[in-house]
Order: sequence, then structure tokens, then C-alpha cells
Amino acid sequence: MVMNNVPSAALKLSALGCRARPPAITALMKTALETPGLLSLAAGFTDNATLPVTAVAGALHGLAVGGSNQEFLQYGTNSGRPGLRTALAARLLRQDGCAAAAADTAAVAEMAGRFFITNGSQQALYLAIQTLCEPGDIVLVDRPSYFVFLELLGGLGVEARSLPVDAAGRLDPTALRAKLAAMRADGSRARLKAVYFVSWFSNPSGRTLDAAQVRELAEALRAEDCVIPVIEDAAYRELGYDEAAARLRPGVLGDAAWAGFPRLYTSTLTKPFASGLKVGYGVCDHEAWRSAMLHAKGHHDFGTANFAQAVLERALVDGAFDSQLVILRRAYREKRDALNTALEVGGLRARGWRWRVPEGGLYLWLEGPAGLDTGGASAFCRACLHEGVLYVPGELCHGDDAPKNTVRLSFGVLPPEKLAEAGARFCRAAAAVLA
Ligand SMILES: Cc1ncc(COP(=O)(O)O)c(C=O)c1O
Repeated sequence: MVMNNVPSAALKLSALGCRARPPAITALMKTALETPGLLSLAAGFTDNATLPVTAVAGALHGLAVGGSNQEFLQYGTNSGRPGLRTALAARLLRQDGCAAAAADTAAVAEMAGRFFITNGSQQALYLAIQTLCEPGDIVLVDRPSYFVFLELLGGLGVEARSLPVDAAGRLDPTALRAKLAAMRADGSRARLKAVYFVSWFSNPSGRTLDAAQVRELAEALRAEDCVIPVIEDAAYRELGYDEAAARLRPGVLGDAAWAGFPRLYTSTLTKPFASGLKVGYGVCDHEAWRSAMLHAKGHHDFGTANFAQAVLERALVDGAFDSQLVILRRAYREKRDALNTALEVGGLRARGWRWRVPEGGLYLWLEGPAGLDTGGASAFCRACLHEGVLYVPGELCHGDDAPKNTVRLSFGVLPPEKLAEAGARFCRAAAAVLA
């Protein structure tokens, strides 16, 4: 093919095209790649060493040799493989404490009918907002919140406002009621379209919402006449280091406090099995909203990769998925300990840093001394790069009113010995900046 030097024609992007921005951590990641020897605690990737290669090979072998036909290499349906939806529906009912329903074929089928399998749960989140919001609308989010969701909102022109929390980081229903009343008074309440939160071992904060907080959130919204769509993101529900953590309380779909709210529950098979398969799901109890999401999904891709779903269906049904979880829980606990110990031993607390040790997930959320700036252009960030360690600035994880002194550290990717080294480097940077 002959390339010529004719300049491309001027292009007028749509409003959405104009709003699309590179992810906020792109610049940091570029720095990471360009800095030899840098240890990254920034990426939310999973652990390479524990990825289930043998289990996937077994599933593939079963499909290719043991399967009765080639359908796993054919297009699937828009809402996803019936077998996968059924396996996930029974699992969700069990986790939500409905053992009887999980054993009842009709109840499982009803639940499976509310499922749609997506290209990662990220797609389900996108579909949710795309079908609910216009540019200028408002969504209430965790404080701090999952920053890729915040970017998604920004890309669709939607404003994120934080759910108020108290000094201990617990949701504050009284402050929320005051906030909603103020929004009614200033007219912005009419633009409030949904509430979103990550309920188990959150990204970025590692905290799990207990039953009381989730109930009080529903009560506060209801009391202020805000029975709006709720999006519960359970991406890390399976990654509690104690497997019982997933059953501590039901998700919003099984919680009477949320009856009457249009409910979407999203979760994923990436973090707890293989991120490269990129399969997640949404479960929605509101028919019109679910149909709209499915129609929009049809426009995106008319179905998530059938092949990846078939592998996961096998893994769920034959127990490989649960065996993998046992491996992951042990590995991530060990990695959390390696990073946490390095920070403790490095004297970070004595320098005024605070953090809680999460019982699941992939992240430590740190609050630095008041007045410290951890932003991407800060002296602290430069000190970390100088020491050879990278983190996510916490200011990226806030819908509004972002504090300057927080940091997300991910222990998903590096092995324990590298985490220990990365933690030591982080402590040296903290010491250098305060010195
Ligand atoms: C809180 C949260 N929700 C959703 C996702 C999306 O994950 P996936 O698209 O792999 O299912 C992530 C990924 O990091 C996440 O941290």
C-alpha cells in the first residue's frame, strides 16, 4: 500500500468524543515505564504468578475434546450464556443468604433472567450510566471512590458528588440528608440520577460497608424522597481473605432496606479468577432499566465473548473457580502483610501517616500528615519517583472536595519481596519530604 502525505481532513468530534480524556494515571504509568527499576504500587492489576493457567487449560480441553459441539467458538447471546448466568445466580443467592432459593430451580432461573454478562463489570457500569444520565446530571459516589468510574462519569459529562462520611470514614446519613436537602433547595436535586458505591474491600479504600451503613444509606435517601437507582459494585466481594466475608450481609438485591429502589448489582470474574478473560456481569431488578442496558449493549457488541464465558462457566461448575479463590486469598493476604509490614517497620505511622489494614482486596489506603500534597506534580510524588516507587494520588479518587494528602497503594501485582522493597522506598520518600 502506498502511503501519501495528504493531510487528513479536519474532524469535528461529537461532544462525547471531545470530552474523552486519557485516564488520569496514564502520565504516571508512562513515567513508570520510562524509569528503569521503578516498582509500581499504582496499577490495579492482579497477581501474575497465581493466574490459573492450568485451570484454564483444563477448561479448554474439556470444551474442545469433551464438549459435544463447537458452540463455544460461535457468537453467544446478548445477555450471555444461560449456563453461566445460572451458575452465577445460584452463587449470588447463596452469598445473599438465600440457600433455599439457591437450591430451587425456578428461583435460580428467575434470578438468572436478571443477569447480563458483560465485557468486564466496567461495561456494566458504563451501560448503567449511559442509560440513566444526560450530561449535567449528578451521581452520588463513595468517598473515596473507584477512579475509573469517576472518569467514566466525566466522559459522559456527569457530575460526581461524594456521599458524606464521618471522621472514621463511615457513611454519615445525617450529613447526607442535609446534603440532599441543600440540593433540593438549590435545584440540583432534580439532576440527581443514581447512587454508586463499592461495598466489599473497596477500591481504593479497602473498606467494607457493614449492614447498618448500607441500611442507613437507603433510609436517608428514602427519607429525603430520593428513591433513585442504586448501583452496588461488588467487584471485590470474593476477595475477602476469609471466604465467609462474602456472606457477611446480602447485597442490595437481597436487602429489604432497598425495596422499591431500581437496583443494579455488578460484579466480576476478572479479579477472582483471570483478569485477561475480562468477563463481568450486572444483575438488575428493574425491567425497563435492564432492557435499556441490554439494548445499548447490543449496540456496543451484541454479546460478550462467548469463548471466555464458556471457560468461566466450566470453571464455576467443576470447582476450579473455588479452588483458585483459595489460592488467591492466601496469596493476597501474604502480599498485604508484606507491604503493610514494610510500612510499619519503615516508621510511616510515626511520621503521621494513618491507614487501616484491610481484610480483603488489593489495596492499602493511606492518609498522610495534614498539609502534605501527594498529587502527581507534588514534591512527594517526585521523591517517590526518585526512590523508585509509584502510587496513585488519592485526589484522583474523589468526586468533589478532594483532600490532597491521600494515597492508594496496590499490592496486586508485585511479589512479596518486591512489595517489601517498594514499601521501604515509600517510607524513605516520606521521610525525605518531611525532613
Ligand atoms: C471497584 C471496581 N469496579 C469495577 C472494576 C472493573 O473491573 P472489570 O471490568 O475487570 O470487571 C474494577 C477494576 O479495577 C474495580 O476496581
